[in-house]
Parts: sequence; C-alpha cells; structure tokens
Amino acid sequence: MTRPAAAVAASLADALASLAPTGVRCEVLPIDAVHRASLFADERAAMAAARPRRRDEFATGRAALRAALGRPVAVPVGDGGRPVLPPDVTGSIAHDDAVAVAVAGSSARWAALGVDLERAGPMPADEAALVRRTDEGDLDARMVFVLKEAAYKAWSALGGRLLDFTEMRVEVAGEGSFVATPIVSGAPNLRGRYGLVDERWLAVVAFTRRTGVGCFGAGLA
Ligand SMILES: CC(C)(COP(=O)(O)OP(=O)(O)OC[C@H]1O[C@@H](n2cnc3c(N)ncnc32)[C@H](O)[C@@H]1OP(=O)(O)O)[C@@H](O)C(=O)NCCC(=O)NCCS
Repeated sequence: MTRPAAAVAASLADALASLAPTGVRCEVLPIDAVHRASLFADERAAMAAARPRRRDEFATGRAALRAALGRPVAVPVGDGGRPVLPPDVTGSIAHDDAVAVAVAGSSARWAALGVDLERAGPMPADEAALVRRTDEGDLDARMVFVLKEAAYKAWSALGGRLLDFTEMRVEVAGEGSFVATPIVSGAPNLRGRYGLVDERWLAVVAFTRRTGVGCFGAGLA
C-alpha cells in the first residue's frame, strides 16, 4: 500500500535532519499544486510550457528551499537547470513522485550542498552498467545513482562540468557515510551521508568553505 505523501515527508524530514551536518537546514514537503501560488515571476515563466505535474514538483521544490532558507527569495533556473540562490546562501533540491526535499545553508560556511532521493529497487542490468563503475563492486546500483546525483549537484554548484556516472567514483564508509570523487584532475573528494528511508534512498553532500573538504568527519581519505 502506498503511504500518504505527508507521512513520507515526515519520515524523510526526520531522516534528512539527522543525515545533514549541523548548520545545514532541511525541508521536505509533499508535492502539492498549492505551492504554485508562491512562485516568483521568473520561476513561473520558466515553467510556462511545463506539464502540470512538473509545475507542481518545481513549485514544491522552491517552497521547500525557501522554507529551509527561512526567507522568501526568488530562485531562478540557472545553467543546466541548477537553482540560482542569492550569494550569501547555498542549497539544493530534489524530488520524486510524492515529495520534494531541500537543503540550505550559509555560503560563508558551505561552498556547496547537494541532495538527492529516489525510490529504492533493482535497476535493470543495462542501466546499472552505466551508473556503477566496475571498481565500485556490488554496491546497490540505485543507491550508487542517488549518491552520485547528490554529489554531482554539489560538484556542479562548485563549477564542475557535466559528468557521466562512470566519471564519479563512490566509496561507502561506515555508518551511512560516503565519499564521491569525480574522475577529473584536481577534483576534491565530496563527502556525504545517506540512508534508506521509507523505501527511498536519500543522500546529502556538504562541502565546507573553511577547510575545503567534506564535513562529515574523517571518513575515507
Ligand atoms: C541535475 C540532475 C542530477 C537532477 O537529477 P534528477 O534525478 O533529474 O532530478 P532530482 O529530482 O534529483 O533533482 C532535480 C533538481 O536538481 C536541481 N538541479 C538541476 N540541475 C542541477 C545542476 N546542474 N546542479 C545542481 N542542481 C541541479 C534542480 O533544482 C532540480 O529541480 P527543479 O528543476 O525542480 O529546480 C540531472 O538531471 C542531471 O542533469 N544529470 C546529469 C549529470 C549527472 O547526473 N551525472 C552523473 C552523476 S556524476
């Protein structure tokens, strides 16, 4: 039986709050057309040709990000679809068919954040071969997908280029933490945490400005 979106949002909100480092604010909302009313003009224009469901997920993602930020700022669509935030804050959005999640924090502390979620479940072998590198062993391909997408969003916010999934390598550390490394000369390690919550993989990556490293403890070198 499908759980109500509000119940899913509540359990994901608890999980995200425990996965995210201190100082990163999180919000999870059930996807709802009601959030269309709070779109700013530029945001509404970006969705002018979109289907109703896409408008709803976009609007709910914006609402979640504004709630995480704690202020009603416009978040235009930037290069490649990334959310463009005021310079003093950074953040990230993801959605599935039921909920939108957002993380946000001060740019003085965080150079980049990334979040992703996706329903758990087996991935067809041909897709898994595109997502998982041979040196990532037998990690769940759907999980690898989510870890890489969260890391890619942070990487993109740092100015990194578009990557194929096999151009990012993930290594899972203990206690739900991971390191994602773009296979690009000079790229940093992107550290994150992940979990399986309400039949969904959920991952968050945070890259600090002060030390220039991930913020989830020593983890993997
Ligand atoms: C950006 C991308 C990762 C989003 O993933 P998705 O599964 O399609 O959708 P999600 O729900 O997880 O996330 C969507 C949100 O990501 C954000 N986003 C889009 N492009 C982004 C980018 N370049 N950087 C950071 N965030 C981005 C947006 O806020 C978007 O929501 P919105 O359009 O409603 O504002 C994906 O569309 C993409 O472009 N992938 C290409 C690169 C890649 O994945 N490489 C392999 C991993 S290394």
